[in-house]
Amino acid sequence: MEQEFVERVAPLLRAARRIVVCTGAGISAESGVPTFRDDLTGLWARFDAQQLATPEAFHADPDLVWGWYEWRRARVRRARPNAGHLAVAAIEARVPASTVITQNVDDLHERAGSRTAIHLHGSLFAPRCVGVPAHPAALPEPPDDEVIGSPEGRRIPPPRCASCAALVRPGVVWFGEGLPEAALTAAVDAATSCELLLAVGTSGVVYPAAEIPRIAARAGATVLQVNPEPTALDAVCAVNLRGTAAQVLPALVAAAWGPDGHTA
Ligand code: OAD
Repeated sequence: MEQEFVERVAPLLRAARRIVVCTGAGISAESGVPTFRDDLTGLWARFDAQQLATPEAFHADPDLVWGWYEWRRARVRRARPNAGHLAVAAIEARVPASTVITQNVDDLHERAGSRTAIHLHGSLFAPRCVGVPAHPAALPEPPDDEVIGSPEGRRIPPPRCASCAALVRPGVVWFGEGLPEAALTAAVDAATSCELLLAVGTSGVVYPAAEIPRIAARAGATVLQVNPEPTALDAVCAVNLRGTAAQVLPALVAAAWGPDGHTA
């Protein structure tokens, strides 16, 4: 990690009244939730996430896709927020007019204490039916761990909607689908009015989410990035902090406000 850069950007954090933290799959990687570009493992090793996460895949084989989402929910339930998620919540606590915008469908920001997380790509834990209009649906009881880990877990029928009997689908944004309008509007508003945007753990290639740091930069905000690898956002960022979220974010919070996140 580049401590020198961390020390240099800490005053920017301390001075900013409106901060946006924009996160992607990389912030949950150290909690054991695989990123979208990682290969699937175990039962799902021969599948491609980018093909399962589509309306076409659900239409063709709802049991297969629902089984995959049960597996993903089970992984997230087992995961715990890491030091990166906790540091984001500390920024929010320190700078009340800050906003967390995430592309992640897990609930690790909420479990770390974030109040404002805008979920641009929906949530694993808020299913809805495929009917028009769509009804929010309750999550069924999670299958037993043995089922999730066995070939039987590869095909789990989705429940039916209690209101209209249509199939229930995951409440996430699939490839080719639009983003929830209220979430996108709130994210664009926050990006337009912030002074500082931190892009964390995102490859910056999936639009329109990837537009958010660019909107902030165009509106005059300083954009910083935390990622161990170069990304499509490098050119937009004033500083690229090359390291993992769980290493860099706590160091940044400590450099800005002291080791416990309070002003030193
Ligand atoms: P990606 O999987 O595209 O990228 C993950 C990023 O995290 C990469 O740039 C990694 O270098 C970085 N990374 C990995 N480990 C990290 C760590 N420990 N700390 C910090 N960064 C780390 O994830 P997203 O950009 O979130 O969309 O992907 C965006 C969207 O693509 C997803 O929301 C999903 C997918 O298609 C939909 O499902 C609609």
